[in-house]
Amino acid sequence: MAQVLGIDIGGTGVKAAPVDTATGTLLAERRKIATPHPATPEAVLDVVAELVKGFDWTGPAGSTFPGVVANGQILTAPNLDPGWVGVQTADAFGGATKLNVTVLNDADAAGLAEMRFGAGKDRNGTVLMLTLGTGIGSALFIDGVLVPNTEFGHVEIRGKDAEKRASEHAREEGDLSWGKWAGRVDEYLEHMEALLSPALIIIGGGISKKSEKFLPLLTGLRAEIVPAGMLNDAGIVGAAMAAVPD
Ligand code: BGC
Repeated sequence: MAQVLGIDIGGTGVKAAPVDTATGTLLAERRKIATPHPATPEAVLDVVAELVKGFDWTGPAGSTFPGVVANGQILTAPNLDPGWVGVQTADAFGGATKLNVTVLNDADAAGLAEMRFGAGKDRNGTVLMLTLGTGIGSALFIDGVLVPNTEFGHVEIRGKDAEKRASEHAREEGDLSWGKWAGRVDEYLEHMEALLSPALIIIGGGISKKSEKFLPLLTGLRAEIVPAGMLNDAGIVGAAMAAVPD
């Protein structure tokens, strides 16, 4: 059994807990610190270091990041401070925590956890996970294999980034009724379905706790559509999984 510290960096909070990667369970209660604003690399990494210290952690660690992470470098950070773009993850996270931290996109991490332990378990074919939160994150799996950094939250719907219309943040900010917001989610999902024809769509993010409020309002999708099984812990678990080889 590998014990790995999973860290999940989001637009509103940074969460962490030690994870048993064989079972996907948290080994201690997770801790959360509000994301500092402006969410500069220095400020956010201070919070990450505080969480690592709080758990007295010296072992392997993995962290999510809410943007594109490729070849050990942060390439985009649409919902955090732009100072993140270009940051080398090994230097930045290693410097702040003195640990070896594997960093990956937040939705990709949540998707890895859902495919191993949650709603996507044992599912083959094309599976699309979408996290509706501050933004919209996406993770695409083909026969269980992740295609990283798909960034489907930024496809254009009615001349706007999809996440500006259909994220949980957009619902709250616009004070939208469930019906109105579900209509926007429906339009977005139909668009994604037309492009990818997934057999299964998993809806994650904070909103997955309230799935009964909007999933029944969705219409006309061919794909099976289900809420994430791991609710808010998927990012932490997936970050931990990414830090240790299978
Ligand atoms: C970012 C994605 C991220 C998603 C959810 C989007 O704005 O571009 O990389 O996965 O938000 O945090």
